[in-house]
Amino acid sequence: MRLQKYLAHAGVASRRASEAIIAAGRVTVGGTVVRDPATDVGEDDDVRVDGSPVAPVRVTVVFAVNKPAGVVSTAQDTHGRPTVVDLVPAGTRRLYPVGRLDADTTGLILLTDDGELADLLTHPRYEVPKVYLARVAGAVDDAALRQLRDGVELDDGRTLPATVERINPHTLRLTLREGRKRQVRRMCEAVGHPVEALRRVRLGPLDVGRLREGEWRALDAREVQALRDAPKPVRRPGRRG
Ligand code: URA
Repeated sequence: MRLQKYLAHAGVASRRASEAIIAAGRVTVGGTVVRDPATDVGEDDDVRVDGSPVAPVRVTVVFAVNKPAGVVSTAQDTHGRPTVVDLVPAGTRRLYPVGRLDADTTGLILLTDDGELADLLTHPRYEVPKVYLARVAGAVDDAALRQLRDGVELDDGRTLPATVERINPHTLRLTLREGRKRQVRRMCEAVGHPVEALRRVRLGPLDVGRLREGEWRALDAREVQALRDAPKPVRRPGRRG
């Protein structure tokens, strides 16, 4: 980040005033006076104004990616398959996928260098809603719909109540507040309608929007803040924490 912006982000002064402070030779980076406001600095640099250290500035990056099928959502794949991280431009930051989508699931996945944000968005306690469109085999009747909504018995326990709309007999829109492995596929299979195609269209406050498969965009500060505000602890009887 440019030194001038860095000082402004750290609350030292406005951008314009920071430029003047830098030009006056009051700022050192790693012990050397720096007079160029465009000097690139990062959170590991020792930046000082009049000899006093400036607290490091952490700027989070979050990318929204529309994952195509065949791309895995781990940071690395032992089988050498392309990963979602390969879809965004390589930078100096280490990016982590927020949660997982199956290789054959398409749609919205986030990548961030902020481990704390990733944990908040995926921690089961916060039940951040995730919305999926599923095309399933067979025509879904009212009984199957009710089961999906009320909770389905899976081998790792019963699913939480979910919002499930039938868009047409073969297409469901499911809003889940859990993120178990292959959960939508297992739920639909359990009620007799195996998934043929699955796409995630929303995560918390963020919609996949106009991103086409394989495309990405960096979220702005307002969108990142909305993601930070999304996780709210949910109290459920019998659950600790
Ligand atoms: N549920 C699934 O079954 N697969 C996904 O990729 C995401 C949710």
